[in-house]
Amino acid sequence: MTFVGESDNVRRFLLPGTCADPVTQDGLVKMPERTAAARRPTRLVPFLLLLALVAGCSPERYPQTALLPLSDYARIGDHVQDQTFYWALGVFVLVEGALLYAIFRFRGRPDDPEPPQIHGNTTIEIIWTLIPALILAAIAVPTVKGIFETNASPTGDVLKIEVIGHQWWWEFRYPDLNVTTANELHVPVGRTVELLQNSADVVHSFWPPRFAGKRDVFPGRQTRMWFKADSAGLFPGQCAEFCGIQHARMAFQVRASSPAEYDAWTAHMRTLGPKPAAAAPSGDSVKTASAGGTVQGPKVPAQGPQAKADSAAPSSQGPEYAKGEQLFKMKGCIGCHSLQAVDAPKGMIGPNLATVGSRAYIAAGWLRNTDENLEHWIREPQTVKKGVLMPNLGVTAEEAKALRAYLRAHQ
Ligand code: CUA
Repeated sequence: MTFVGESDNVRRFLLPGTCADPVTQDGLVKMPERTAAARRPTRLVPFLLLLALVAGCSPERYPQTALLPLSDYARIGDHVQDQTFYWALGVFVLVEGALLYAIFRFRGRPDDPEPPQIHGNTTIEIIWTLIPALILAAIAVPTVKGIFETNASPTGDVLKIEVIGHQWWWEFRYPDLNVTTANELHVPVGRTVELLQNSADVVHSFWPPRFAGKRDVFPGRQTRMWFKADSAGLFPGQCAEFCGIQHARMAFQVRASSPAEYDAWTAHMRTLGPKPAAAAPSGDSVKTASAGGTVQGPKVPAQGPQAKADSAAPSSQGPEYAKGEQLFKMKGCIGCHSLQAVDAPKGMIGPNLATVGSRAYIAAGWLRNTDENLEHWIREPQTVKKGVLMPNLGVTAEEAKALRAYLRAHQ
């Protein structure tokens, strides 16, 4: 039998025993039922699938993308990536174009003589060594420049923020403002923030993709990163280093606000201090200070001018709030969670809850902060996020409602 474009070389590869194709009794390779021509369109299927996948992966549909940078730092990496991509695209088009041209222009026929050999042609070998070397050099220039730029220490009006990784949540301390948040990094638009990072336990990696690259955090060693956000909004971030079974649920949000909004947020946070000593139920300054939430009234969403006037007056906390406050102490929540954003005690096991009521997510970016989710999270942490340090405390549905009301008021 004869193959399309069959030559000695092809026949050698199709000898019995050297190929998976079935062999007939007379020793010839049996062609499968479908002809080569019929197979050609199906060969396009993987290519078409890849094309559909690329089209479906438009960065707008996936907020956790580094392809839509929102800071000076992120644009440095994006620029290197773009440059590399365009070089790779150029190489791909030229090489594949030359290959396709050669396949059709110089395709072999059975009676063709041996083509001229170019092995050992010094000129050609110098050319195809020099071209990739020059392309790599062209990519290396912006890459090395970017490495130096991103590793430089920021100067000028810089806001320092400490980032501490925990299994499996993120602590953010703002030493310049003396406030603390958990799982939400608040940054001002137009001002550089310098992140001083470390870990309370194992190695994690801090990654706010719209604003900066990935930076590992280690126990006992500080790593740094910086960026200047140029857009306001809420953007996701993620731990990017496997750190235990809930690594995938060690997410966070970056909340970037305009300078005026950031000042308002700072002013609000400064009110979330320790509870006045006279109202403290015991002498333990650190633990009782955690009950600081009572210095503020629960937030009621304003609905129209009248509602706004109502909510401005200090509203009563309600019986559920009082019950929740009691349960927060009785169930031992207070031992791991601080409720004060100002002067927050260091080394707490659980996330700071001073503003848990207004967070977009709970359980480190894993659940939307709805009443239902918050109660479920309080009742069954080991079902929601197996392996977390918060044990199931045998909280009843009614108790969870009270605890939820108490925590919701902490905004
Ligand atoms: Cu922390 Cu993965």
